[in-house]
Amino acid sequence: MTQDELKQAVAVAAIQYVVDGEIIGVGTGSTANFFIDELAKIKHRIKGTVASSEATAARLRGHGIDVFDLNDVTAIAVYIDGADEITHSGAMIKGGGAALTREKIVASVSAKFVCIADGSKLVDVMGKFPLPVEVLPMARAAVMRKLAALGGQPKLRLKAGSDQAFITDNGGEIIDVAGLSITDPVALEQDLNQVPGVVAVGLFALRGADVCLLGTSDGVKTLT
Ligand code: 5RP
Repeated sequence: MTQDELKQAVAVAAIQYVVDGEIIGVGTGSTANFFIDELAKIKHRIKGTVASSEATAARLRGHGIDVFDLNDVTAIAVYIDGADEITHSGAMIKGGGAALTREKIVASVSAKFVCIADGSKLVDVMGKFPLPVEVLPMARAAVMRKLAALGGQPKLRLKAGSDQAFITDNGGEIIDVAGLSITDPVALEQDLNQVPGVVAVGLFALRGADVCLLGTSDGVKTLT
């Protein structure tokens, strides 16, 4: 099966976690896009969604699915999103699609986090995928020095085909940190959360996934 077929398979499997009559949190990225297309088929069963990015909100609205502002919502039954890396215990690196901050906020309000990923995302130790960190632009250089001191190789993410910084939906910039071997993701997330100027770190370990639906050539495997 191709990687897209594996993503499609987990998107279909994730529909069983959608709670009828409730608000669903929706992630960002190519796997989340497959999920949105599946959700559209049962949109009459849900109250609506909260989106983790402008791109996701646009795709949801394009399907005629209601998108609520998080400020108008008190509870989200389930959050469904992809990951760049996930461990067997559900800790993740996210933010390859630059939506880590809103993803973390929406996930924090959700009763359950269901990660949907193709099998290539499962790792024993995270860090091969560069860790995205969203920063306020004025803090960029200071945070990069701090990340280098921690042993990483920080690099400012640029707009595709340009030498200008990529700007997130929140007006932040993204630093991608290569060369980390993340043996204690909870401690690293806690440490990086304390660095002034860091808006959010793409480590989801303090609040990881409750369930991971992993697409493999042997079918969709459920890790809990
Ligand atoms: C976006 C994310 C995505 O979930 C992550 O990058 C995985 O993307 P894809 O499903 O395209 O592989 O964290 O910020």
